Amino acid sequence: MTYPAATGDFDAALAQDPRYERSAVIDLEAIRHNVRRLAAAASPAKVMAVVKADAYGHGAVPVARAALEAGAAWLGVAHISEALALRAAGIDAPLLAWLHTTESNFGAAVAAGVDIGCSGWELERIVAAAREQERPARIHLKVDTGLGRNGATLETWDNLVGEALEYQDQGLLRVVGIFSHLAVADEPERPETDQQLAAFREVLAVAEDAGVDPEVRHLANTPATLSRPDTHFDLVRVGLGIYGLSPFAGQTSAELGLRPAMTLRTVVSQCKEVPDGQGVSYGLRYHTSGPSTLGLIPLGYADGIPRVATGGPVRVAGMTYPVVGRIAMDQMVIDLGDVGPAGAGLLGAEAQLFGDGADGGPTADDWARAAGTINYEIVTRISPRVPRRFINEQPFSGHSGEGAA
Ligand SMILES: Cc1ncc(COP(=O)(O)O)c(C=O)c1O
Repeated sequence: MTYPAATGDFDAALAQDPRYERSAVIDLEAIRHNVRRLAAAASPAKVMAVVKADAYGHGAVPVARAALEAGAAWLGVAHISEALALRAAGIDAPLLAWLHTTESNFGAAVAAGVDIGCSGWELERIVAAAREQERPARIHLKVDTGLGRNGATLETWDNLVGEALEYQDQGLLRVVGIFSHLAVADEPERPETDQQLAAFREVLAVAEDAGVDPEVRHLANTPATLSRPDTHFDLVRVGLGIYGLSPFAGQTSAELGLRPAMTLRTVVSQCKEVPDGQGVSYGLRYHTSGPSTLGLIPLGYADGIPRVATGGPVRVAGMTYPVVGRIAMDQMVIDLGDVGPAGAGLLGAEAQLFGDGADGGPTADDWARAAGTINYEIVTRISPRVPRRFINEQPFSGHSGEGAA
């Protein structure tokens, strides 16, 4: 067997920068492409780019900027602290944070013009913060239409709407939005999305009859944006899709017109010939079935690769090999087969765990299957030990989306 030269199929300049000997390469042009694709699907509804959890592991600030450049009008995060980090980076687009605790800093959110999701219990604290800041809070009332997580219950909705309107009349807040979150939109054949949509329409009618005049009503996530136009309302909240990943089990990114933005790569850090029956990695769960060359891949569960994902694919020199034996904290092993001395030539070769899949290479979906999880988790859990390297960055223009808060 012959291999392409070790340097033949990767970015030599990238490999020469020691910071990036292992890296998650984030293609910001792919982010922009995906936002444009989702905006076209959502139109005339606007797009909120969901950049919580460090933009699903892709890097919140560069992704937020790229999303705004491509036409996203809003940004969304879970935690107020995530929103404040975006503000600190100079991003002043409309920005919603929706998951709070009794320890959340509502005052800082109000001061920074961050919109606050409100399920009920937060209302008094938000109002206290608004009084303290001498500035009305901007809130989005959240209703639980069936997901069973945060959001007001249908039973407490009237009451929450009434209280919010009283505070709005007093100038302490403005009800900017009303929203809910879908439970099964990734399984379009299930009936519960229709039930949630019907419940959402009912609570909107209740709120509007009571005098709420929200700027934005929002329900759809990525799968609903792509498959259920009747859920779009004024704004869609898209996360997974802007990273180029498919939310549907039966459809690939390419079939949806999306481009995966993250490539996880490193270089082969050792190649050695071993005899038949060589045990590999902790537990010795794998043994070579003949003389073989083992390739060491210097990424492990400390880097966010699930330990259970033995069998996950690694592409080296144009060929894809499954990981053999247990994935350890810092490293994993591929079996290159009986390649004799040719294997030594792969020391330092590009090793790609996943990328855009365009050339038939491995994808985050392949790793999700190997780990028995979803692609969301694969990219989001790539750990801070793996530096993010951004490509196709545009100079920051200070652009802030529409109607900056
Ligand atoms: C409230 C809310 N809206 C929208 C999203 C985005 O979902 P998706 O990544 O499926 O687009 C999330 C993510 O889980 C969320 O929690």
